[in-house]
Parts: sequence; structure tokens; C-alpha cells
Amino acid sequence: MTTATILVTGGTGTLGSHVLPLLARAGRSVRVLSRNPRENTAGVEYVACDLLAGDGIDAALEGVETVLHLAGGPKGDDVATRNLVAAAQRVGTVRHLVYVSVIAADAVPLGYFKAKLDSERAVAESGLAFTTLRAAQFHDLALKVVEKMAKMPVVPSPGGLRWQPVDSREVAARLVELTLAAPAGRVPDLAGPDVYSLGELTRGYLRARGKRRPLLPVRMPGKVGKIYRGGENLAREGATVGTRSWEDFLAERVA
Ligand SMILES: NC(=O)c1ccc[n+]([C@@H]2O[C@H](COP(=O)([O-])OP(=O)(O)OC[C@H]3O[C@@H](n4cnc5c(N)ncnc54)[C@H](OP(=O)(O)O)[C@@H]3O)[C@@H](O)[C@H]2O)c1
Repeated sequence: MTTATILVTGGTGTLGSHVLPLLARAGRSVRVLSRNPRENTAGVEYVACDLLAGDGIDAALEGVETVLHLAGGPKGDDVATRNLVAAAQRVGTVRHLVYVSVIAADAVPLGYFKAKLDSERAVAESGLAFTTLRAAQFHDLALKVVEKMAKMPVVPSPGGLRWQPVDSREVAARLVELTLAAPAGRVPDLAGPDVYSLGELTRGYLRARGKRRPLLPVRMPGKVGKIYRGGENLAREGATVGTRSWEDFLAERVA
């Protein structure tokens, strides 16, 4: 088994912060690619590089055989992934590229999902050996959404919008397992144990905070609304299901 340095893009993010200690526990040295320069720490070297600009990725890949690509944002994941893939092809040492995408990347016609699907394609068509995991929305994201909504005196509750949120630590553990194993292509999606309407997520949050707010049912318009009402954004059959629920997460983070 190789012990070469693993390049983790997005190692400074929510998911990345759970991944790094797991890789350290597995005895692997890590290089983290981030847009901002940082001091190295024990076992972690930081390289400053913007994947959207593209400069400096080749240098970040020097001596790297495994890449765990977590970097992402609301916009431009397709461009960032294409730049990373092109650099890996040029450098020629990468033996395994692991990518985290989102559940229903191929079903939801919104920019973020389209960019994730494009990224998946860039990885799959690169000729590099790869593993791609689609994960559901993290509890952390659900919390951000409901925290924002709960600031309103009346909380809008889009009818039919459901999520099956997953614990980002469980996603991190799965990704580390995949990173340390042989390339596997597209693997089963990973979602949380339960499906909730946005109203249920909000009510759970309000309960945990001991707050009260009226919920106002609203209808999501158009094609996107229809897709959400039809549950096409949810995990499909065969998905792996995590164990930590929204209530478990809230008990730890909010109560
Ligand atoms: N959050 C969810 O619910 C969810 C669900 C499914 C899949 N995912 C995917 O999981 C991945 C991680 O999500 P997260 O919630 O952990 O994200 P996050 O906390 O927002 O962190 C984003 C990370 O990406 C890096 N990054 C962003 N743009 C970059 C660029 N142009 N060049 C280099 N690095 C860049 C950031 O690094 P710096 O700021 O240090 O540069 C940061 O480490 C993403 O690919 C996301 O699409 C997320």
C-alpha cells in the first residue's frame, strides 16, 4: 500500500475538518489545498491555491498519488474540478481521485446541482481511476437554513420540500474509507436515517431552542417545485443510510 501524501482540497471546510483527523489517525500525511495561506501543523502541509484560477495546482500535486476533492462552493465547482482534473492528467502521478458530489445531482435543475453533475462527469471521463460519492445535505447546512428562516417572525414552509440530511462526520468517515481503498467508481449514495419536510426540520430546531414561531405554508413554483414535490431530490433505492439523526445533531449543537 502507498503511503504517499494525500492532497485534500477543501480540507479547511466543514467536511474537511472531520476528514483530516481521520487521515492522521490512519497514519497518512496530508497536503491541504486552500485559497488562503496557513501555517503547517503536525502532519498537515497547507498550499495556497484557487482552483477556479487554476495556477499552482500542478505544484500542489507534486508527489501525490491520491486526491480527495472536497473543495466546493455555491458556484463554479465544474470549473474548479476541471482545472484539478487537467492538472492531475498533466502531472501523471495521481492513481486515485475521490470526489464528493451531492445526491440527485442529475435530477435538480439548479446551478449548484448542475455544476456537481458536470464535475462528476469531468472526473469519470478523465481517464483517472476515481471514486465518486454523492452525499445528502449535511445537518450543518440544514441548521444554517433553519437558523436563518427562524429569524423571521413568520417562517415560510415550502410544501413538498423534503431533505434526508446526513451527519457530516459520517460522510467524512465514509470518504476516508473510500480514499484508503482501491478506486471504486460511483459508489452508493449516502443519506441520513430520516426524511423531513423543511417544516419538520424547522419545528425540530425551534423545539431545541425553546422558541415558538408560526409556520406559513408556501408553494414552490415551477419545474423545480414539481421535482421537489415528487421527491426526486431524495436518496434513491440502494443508498447507504447513516445513523445520526437531525434530533441527535440538534441535541449536540443547539440544545
Ligand atoms: N454542505 C452540504 O450539505 C453538502 C452536501 C453534499 C455535498 N457537499 C459537497 O461537499 C463538499 C464540502 O462541503 P462543505 O460543506 O464542507 O463546504 P464548506 O464548509 O463550504 O467548505 C468549502 C471548502 O472548499 C474550499 N474552496 C472553495 N472554493 C475553493 C476554490 N476556488 N479553490 C480552492 N478551495 C476552495 C474552501 O477552502 P478555503 O475557504 O480555505 O479556500 C473550503 O475548505 C463540497 O464539494 C460540497 O459541494 C456538501
